[in-house]
Amino acid sequence: MAKKKEYSCVLVETDDEGITWITFNRPEKRNAMNPTLHVEMEQILFEHETDEDTKVIVITGAGNSWSAGMDLKQYFRETDQDPVARFRAVTAHRRWADMLTWSRKPSIAMVNGYCYGGAFTALAACDIVIAAENATFGLSEVNWGILPGGNVSKVFADMVSFRNALFYAMTGRTIDGRKAAEMGIATLAVPADKLRDETLAIARELMAKSPTVLAFTKQGIRAVRDMNMAQAFEYLGAKGMALRVADPEQTRARGMREFLDEKKFRPGFEPVKRPEGGK
Ligand code: COA
Repeated sequence: MAKKKEYSCVLVETDDEGITWITFNRPEKRNAMNPTLHVEMEQILFEHETDEDTKVIVITGAGNSWSAGMDLKQYFRETDQDPVARFRAVTAHRRWADMLTWSRKPSIAMVNGYCYGGAFTALAACDIVIAAENATFGLSEVNWGILPGGNVSKVFADMVSFRNALFYAMTGRTIDGRKAAEMGIATLAVPADKLRDETLAIARELMAKSPTVLAFTKQGIRAVRDMNMAQAFEYLGAKGMALRVADPEQTRARGMREFLDEKKFRPGFEPVKRPEGGK
């Protein structure tokens, strides 16, 4: 049975397959992120991290926007003279982005429209980004006299080339979904009318894998980014050993047995078939 919960700025629905659809829901403000949205996202992600029915998280936006970034009025101007409110909003934002980044659940950003400025923090926290070809990405901060702050300058420069990071941050020019995929901002771009189907297909592909292997894999890729080569060797060695203990499905032993002994499974040539009842 699908589970639904409506917050004041976010809709959450977990469907019968195990996909939790999180929808930024301020379409009249193009889903600009106000302090309330951040507090709600923190709560939502905290709850879903341990929700057994949630196997994949998809984040999208209501209406024609994914998110127009931070709410210039409520997040910035209204907290200029209120350090407590500013601290709460900034901290909630940072916490939910961090939770999403390191979540054991795989996450997909289904970018249906505008994605500006501060929304890049959430975008980078998602593992996979599927954009409508006609989506619009941009770092518009330069036009507002603010910096691509939080971690936006950092995650943007990590996604694209150094030259493109400077160019798009300094001009504020926009990027469509197709170009975003070429530049590495999006994983892939698809026609707008195929956005949901493509997202579903990828979510199902992810759900066919062992959730523990998937969690360790994504955390490994994310963690080694900021390591040197020696640290990466050490970390991945230890993480790999930990996975052998942590994986309740014993995917490693099963995969090898099926390939080497039983000759019935060739990874890469067919999707992984998880045993009945595998969690
Ligand atoms: N902060 C606060 N309010 C925002 C907002 C933001 N980031 N983005 C949009 N809104 C509000 C507008 O003020 C407007 O409110 P109103 O109806 O009370 O006047 C409403 O959302 C609709 O915006 P509008 O500009 O009329 O919609 P549009 O479809 O013509 O354009 C955008 C959409 C996203 C291109 C445009 O709103 C925009 O450029 N927003 C700013 C994006 C940005 O620079 N974000 C980075 C912030 S760090």
